[in-house]
Amino acid sequence: MSFTRRQILGGLAGLGVVGLGVGGARYWLGRTLDARTHDYELIAAPLDLELVSGYTTPAWGYGGQAPGVELRSRQGDWLRVRFINKLDEPTTIHWHGIRLPLEMDGVPYVSQLPVLPGEYFDYRFKTEDAGSFWYHPHVSSAHQLGRGLVGPLIVEEREPSGFRHERVLNLKTWHVDQQGAFTAFSVPREAAREGTRGRLSSVNGVSLPTLDLPAGQVVRLRILNLDNTVTYRLNLPGADVRVYALDGHPVEPRPLGKEYWLGPGMRIELALKVPAAGQELPLRNGPLRLATLKSVPSNEAPGEWPAALPANPVAEPDLDKAQVLRFNFEWAATLVDSSAPGRRSHYWQINGKAWDIDDKTCADRPIARLQKDGHYIFELRNMAQYLHPIHLHGMAFKVLSSDRRDIVPYFTDTYLLGKNETARIALVADNPGIWMFHCHVIDHMETGLMAAIEVA
Ligand code: C2O
Ligand code: CU
Ligand code: CU
Repeated sequence: MSFTRRQILGGLAGLGVVGLGVGGARYWLGRTLDARTHDYELIAAPLDLELVSGYTTPAWGYGGQAPGVELRSRQGDWLRVRFINKLDEPTTIHWHGIRLPLEMDGVPYVSQLPVLPGEYFDYRFKTEDAGSFWYHPHVSSAHQLGRGLVGPLIVEEREPSGFRHERVLNLKTWHVDQQGAFTAFSVPREAAREGTRGRLSSVNGVSLPTLDLPAGQVVRLRILNLDNTVTYRLNLPGADVRVYALDGHPVEPRPLGKEYWLGPGMRIELALKVPAAGQELPLRNGPLRLATLKSVPSNEAPGEWPAALPANPVAEPDLDKAQVLRFNFEWAATLVDSSAPGRRSHYWQINGKAWDIDDKTCADRPIARLQKDGHYIFELRNMAQYLHPIHLHGMAFKVLSSDRRDIVPYFTDTYLLGKNETARIALVADNPGIWMFHCHVIDHMETGLMAAIEVA
């Protein structure tokens, strides 16, 4: 595969350096210098955070914050981001859930060459779908995402949605100790099981925040799981709350129910009817509080439930003519000799093949070749007892059924495949390219659970 080298060395004079700390510039904030070429200047750079009070964590951020600065676009518009790498290692940006051309997908050696330190790369694509998406590197993911390189990308509906208020809640746990120092992002023993968890939970980079919401209003809560490992068992006891969208695609509004399992990479949009001023609601992961939603006085007239959000323009798979492909997600630790020096361990595989994260040629051997505009049903089978949020780049798919739970069919880019579950999903292969198909538990992805799917 060949690449046009769009990134340019050096020549970044005039960029705004903000936040001079001891020892010089520590973080950078992006602002648009030339609106003719891009809408955002997004800089990845080291960023000192105080995650544990009184201690400094040497994190990495986008746009001077971690999770990264919120990018916004409108459905049908172009989003143009000049990405500048101020880290001391190569990176890329992948736009999770966005249906875009392969050259913009951010996969190193498949979409583009890695963006080297000091270089920039112009990402440009049309945002066809409205919804809650996110962005992150696709290079050295365990530590780049772990250090804070994750951020929200919100695509607003073309026409007003009926929501007057909204909040974006970025969920992430940090792999830090009691003094804020980073601990291992990936521990082999954990990678071979559920993945390596961070110790410190956070919402928008803050542990246990209180978020003020206007009393009596209906607020759109966009909850994004930007974590490497954790599946959040979301619940809001006592709240009058409905689900409006899953992973960037609308659903018919329905009650949240007891608990929703939001796997790594997944998003949910809720509408919350905020109770009377002074009341508080806990947002929880199982029994653990993540944040407190606090109702504050509002002098607006009480809000009503908005209508369902308009569907995104995703092609509807024709199940009668669809071809069925089977994918088994297996635990493989016993099959590969991981003791060889310099080799990374492979604990996981798809249909008997483990992806080697250090082998740049893996994408030349796709696990499946789909015909452009062909209709497909994928049968996803989890042969293990650990959760796998299965994610596909480049195209949305429709979840049809599961042998473990009732499914109201919906479009998504990530499906949380439960313990020993078999699920069926369907799609129209309408985007040509070589698309990554992987588990979004980063530890699993980096130890084998990834494949390429070719559409041509
Ligand atoms: Cu968020 Cu390859 O994905
Ligand atoms: Cu993705
Ligand atoms: Cu997994």
